[in-house]
Amino acid sequence: MRVMAVGGGGREHAIVKKLLESSRISHLYALPGNGGMAGEAECINIAPTDIDAMVSFAKARNVDFAVVAPDNPLVSGAVDRLQEAGVRCFGPSAGAAAIEGSKIYAKGLMQKYGIPTARHKAFDDADKALDYLSIHDYPAVIKADGLALGKGVFIAEDMGQAQKAVAALMQEKIFGASGQRIIIEEYLHGVEVSVLAFTDGNTIIPMVSAMDHKRAGEGDTGPNTGGMGAIAPNPYYTDEIAAVCTERIFKPTIDALRSESRRFKGCIYFGLMLTAQGPKVIEYNCRFGDPETQAVLPLLETDLFEIMLVVEEERLDEVQVKFSGDSVCCVVMASEGYPDKYSTGCPINLNNAAGMDGITIFHAGTKLENGRLFTSGGRVLGVTARAASAAEAVEKAYAAVDRIEFENAYYRRDIGRSLRRD
Ligand code: AMP
Ligand code: GLY
Repeated sequence: MRVMAVGGGGREHAIVKKLLESSRISHLYALPGNGGMAGEAECINIAPTDIDAMVSFAKARNVDFAVVAPDNPLVSGAVDRLQEAGVRCFGPSAGAAAIEGSKIYAKGLMQKYGIPTARHKAFDDADKALDYLSIHDYPAVIKADGLALGKGVFIAEDMGQAQKAVAALMQEKIFGASGQRIIIEEYLHGVEVSVLAFTDGNTIIPMVSAMDHKRAGEGDTGPNTGGMGAIAPNPYYTDEIAAVCTERIFKPTIDALRSESRRFKGCIYFGLMLTAQGPKVIEYNCRFGDPETQAVLPLLETDLFEIMLVVEEERLDEVQVKFSGDSVCCVVMASEGYPDKYSTGCPINLNNAAGMDGITIFHAGTKLENGRLFTSGGRVLGVTARAASAAEAVEKAYAAVDRIEFENAYYRRDIGRSLRRD
């Protein structure tokens, strides 16, 4: 089959690498792809947000199947449009993607169906939000309703910080229309877990759990980023906790979406907090997580494309999905300054790390020019190691990181090493 994968980050590189293992794929396009995918798939310079161009391209090249990975096109209806054009897809419709596109919608769904999450209130008026914050407990969590590149969440320690967050979202409109409405919610204490799951809207099959490291600085300090590294499995996610999550969160969520005529087909992401009162949902994403996917997919032993096909055909109950019992650590190498200002265009030298046993280097912000690799984004590489234990995977990943060179490289040295409980 002729397949196109939409997206150009580390997550998409991990997906593309897995898809290439499938004998069912005769040709693979990446839209737009990146420097790492360039040698593996045919990269086509179409932005993931340009749905018109994506649909025209799929029709012109007789694409049979599309894998839409990033949040923006999913929330904007790329899957609906591609399906109308006769292209089969892995990924939710815009209706189902609303669980990520609107945090207010997601919260309402959880409330209606009794799915555990932080208590919250929604606001479209800054003064009312500030009145409420004047009587709220601290820390308080303030979130933009819409998509904000993973940066729309503010943890305010006091009223002063809360005022700044409300002003940034609702008056300065730093995320545009995404911050027109906000939610204010209770701060949850505990350990975070990311669980990605395949679902056809009826059956749900969770993947190996993962732990992201969202803050820019070591010891979980500094601003939130798209993710500075991940390990899988998450050491805090026991079989008992997994069983509770399946019964109280995973199944009820997909059943709720089906009841609301928003059947979810694709990969659903559960951002969970393991609290003293049990697991609670921090957020849903309508897609594979980044960088969790780079840590989880290398452990998948079943053909990813076969799974995507049965999801699309609503026959997920007919397959066995298997994962290896190994561990993976993915360390993100970023450009100094990320998530704020950073420079690009620096040459990258991977020669000393390529070919190391158990190492895969996923590319995120890279581009290939005349056969040479350069940085082109904030998150540049996901250096990923697989081993029998988490500790070994961590050491192996850093041994590879130490051999990779580019100017202004920044990475955390504590991925998988700073496991905490609070
Ligand atoms: P989100 O984009 O909703 O995943 O939020 C980004 C990060 O903010 C999460 O991964 C958590 O670390 C933190 N966060 C979000 N909501 C809460 C909450 N209610 N309590 C504590 N931390 C939160
Ligand atoms: N790692 C979090 C996300 O993909 O949103």
